[in-house]
Amino acid sequence: MTDGSEGASGAPQTAGGPVRHVPVMLNEVLDCLNPVSGETIIDGTFGAGGYSSAILDKGATVIAIDRDPDAIVGGAPLADTSDGRLKLVAGEFAELDVIANAAGFDAVDGVVLDIGVSSMQLDEAERGFSFRQDGPLDMRMGQAGPSAADVVNHADQATLTRIFGLLGEERQAPRVSSAIVKARAKAPITRTSELARIIEAAVGKKPGDRIHPATRSFQGLRIFVNGELEQLAKGLFAAERILKPGGRLVVVTFHSLEDRIVKRFFQDRAGKASGSRHLPQAEASEPLFSQSERSALAAGEEETADNPRARSAKLRWGVRTAAPSRKGDLSIFKLPRLAIEQVNSRAQTR
Ligand SMILES: C[S@@+](CC[C@H](N)C(=O)[O-])C[C@H]1O[C@@H](n2cnc3c(N)ncnc32)[C@H](O)[C@@H]1O
Repeated sequence: MTDGSEGASGAPQTAGGPVRHVPVMLNEVLDCLNPVSGETIIDGTFGAGGYSSAILDKGATVIAIDRDPDAIVGGAPLADTSDGRLKLVAGEFAELDVIANAAGFDAVDGVVLDIGVSSMQLDEAERGFSFRQDGPLDMRMGQAGPSAADVVNHADQATLTRIFGLLGEERQAPRVSSAIVKARAKAPITRTSELARIIEAAVGKKPGDRIHPATRSFQGLRIFVNGELEQLAKGLFAAERILKPGGRLVVVTFHSLEDRIVKRFFQDRAGKASGSRHLPQAEASEPLFSQSERSALAAGEEETADNPRARSAKLRWGVRTAAPSRKGDLSIFKLPRLAIEQVNSRAQTR
């Protein structure tokens, strides 16, 4: 399942051009997060500040994090009018507990994550996320690490196949990676439109296809470049460490790989068989979260009619218990083994 980045790159459009990011499932997020005056909430994915702004309206203080420096700059006017209640921090939500500690908070009442890419990022051709608008092949939400061009031009064919197959869920991943390896032998691939053309020629476009042939491969590349699955897995453990007893963790995801991580986290932390088999039985069975509903919530009909991106959204949430946090063991997520370091070192040696 793709993350809704199709349809003019997933961004809401008007006759006058692109509009700002429309927050997805905002009402449901507020119902579950239930922020009240005097509380402190971490918004780990600030974006255009849709969630943060609504949480501020409820009287809570917000520690808002985004790895994209443009999002932080864009949030300055909201911070200026927040009476000091919006603290904007450039950083990664994998470290949200460390960030909150550095901002002077030992524990918080809620954490919300809205996973994925924002409409502003998709709309800005220069950021290189979109196959619909030509731009440099970049895709980095932050500024660090290898770009999509580094990956496409330097990763070995087997790694590319795994990126497109495992992270993009592209059935024709071997064809895509083979076409890329042939093309880059002639000249480096540097533009989004160039990569989209190579992929389209490799997988073909069948009549009636609902999505562009490059959608899945672009998604896989973006997830890889930004280490998105690992960020999510680590962010969930960080939330467990920083939430007070009674604190709420609310996560909105847009495709099955992400939702599976959140589902596994709650199964491990809220289930009866909670915890590692290496822990003493009593400690292992003590739930770290309680859940009033185990299945994911979806957006309502009205919202999905207005905002196509909401169609693939899933919300899962839980309430932190008083049990002490446990060591986060990433193996519970069974993440695909794909090391960005390998691409990094290859890019540097050329
Ligand atoms: C879907 S948008 C969030 C939209 C936001 N809820 C709103 O209402 O405007 C996701 C944002 O999270 C940011 N992001 C994604 N992964 C991140 C990470 N690991 N750490 C910090 N920010 C991240 C992106 O840069 C993007 O701005």
